[in-house]
Amino acid sequence: MTTIDLGHPVSGDVVELILEDHRRFESLLRELRDSSADRDAVRQAFATLHVAHALAEETKVYPQLRRKDAVSDHEAEHGEEEHAEGHEALLAVLELKGTDTQAFDDAVEELAKVVNHHLTEEELTILNPARDEVSEKVRAELGEAFAAERNARIADNCGTLAHVRSIVAAARKEGLLDDDEDDD
Ligand SMILES: [Fe+2]
Ligand SMILES: [Fe+2]
Repeated sequence: MTTIDLGHPVSGDVVELILEDHRRFESLLRELRDSSADRDAVRQAFATLHVAHALAEETKVYPQLRRKDAVSDHEAEHGEEEHAEGHEALLAVLELKGTDTQAFDDAVEELAKVVNHHLTEEELTILNPARDEVSEKVRAELGEAFAAERNARIADNCGTLAHVRSIVAAARKEGLLDDDEDDD
């Protein structure tokens, strides 16, 4: 269970709630780079938030934005591929025994690269259309559903090593991690 506060929003505009988590990811990545931080606690918190946030987007936000024609199938599927890549890079960080090694720094650098790429692309290609093409009322409904799912997954302690391993294995089986795909 994570000891770091990940927030507990219950309502709000889905775009704002997603952005709040994106800021949390950025700040946790900064702490992961800090050798004076409790990096083991930080990676646990990052794992819990990454799994909960991605699942809540995939189940409560992406499908509804597709239905409203705010995003295309391709954009939603690409988002899921990038979540899988994020989970794979996260797994590499979680699998390491020590947190004061070059291997840890290298794994954190790769995680930051993959996650920052996804945050940028999601904000440009998914959150902007959601702002432009979805009503305030629907954004509030999606916000409530997103927050409920996210909080439930966090309460389930969804970021354990065993669970992240199983998510990555399932994603590989589904073909979400095919390296020969174009990864723009
Ligand atoms: Fe996101
Ligand atoms: Fe995402």
